[in-house]
Amino acid sequence: MSANSVRAEFSNDEIERGEALFRRPCSFLKGVVDADGLPHPRELEVAFAGRSNVGKSSLLNALVGRKALARTSNTPGRTREVNFFELDDRVYLVDLPGYGYARASKRESAGWNRLIRNYLKGRAPLARVFLLIDARHGLKATDKPILELMDVSAVSYQGVLTKSDKLKQDEIEGVAEAVAGELATHPAAHPDLIVTSARTGKGLPELRAAIAALLGP
Ligand code: GTP
Ligand code: MG
Repeated sequence: MSANSVRAEFSNDEIERGEALFRRPCSFLKGVVDADGLPHPRELEVAFAGRSNVGKSSLLNALVGRKALARTSNTPGRTREVNFFELDDRVYLVDLPGYGYARASKRESAGWNRLIRNYLKGRAPLARVFLLIDARHGLKATDKPILELMDVSAVSYQGVLTKSDKLKQDEIEGVAEAVAGELATHPAAHPDLIVTSARTGKGLPELRAAIAALLGP
């Protein structure tokens, strides 16, 4: 299997639709710490999940073309709330706290894990989770509980490799094949990957297109 066949492909029209959507205004709506604070659903809701420091907030900023809409950091564990961003008055982009941060206290990580789990398992309007995976590391043991949770809750999710600028092309292809092979064994996972870099902009048009495609015609 060539790595290209594990990548999501989009037509020019789909890419243009994604670019048009992401030219619309985007703003921070709120940070949520429990189910009571969840906002009323919009037409579409997608979330970005992944290990701490994988680049969720950076990717969200890059997607909307803003440097600091979502807070990013060298310190893992920066995002501690479920952060809602509103795009074009009809799409929620949701930045989740990272999991698997080794240096968080047990109590802290139990709290974040509960928050992430409750959101993923109970949020009906959530159309897709983009599961971010560091291209240098691939899937790890700490990703397993979230994969299983999304499988049993039937939350549709798609793998997104991040920080691809850190690797050579052939290395990316090796990781892409390994990750796609592993995700193929999960019932709720979308089969194709999107390979991205928030730094170079690689894969952003494809990710925008994937989100726009989830909106009705
Ligand atoms: P938490 O909120 O702590 O879970 O982290 P996060 O997943 O939101 O990661 P964040 O976006 O804060 O980025 C973590 C670090 O990775 C920062 O130092 C970023 O500058 C760096 N980073 C993010 N994306 C990229 C990328 O595409 N390429 C490179 N080289 N570095 C990146
Ligand atoms: Mg973050």
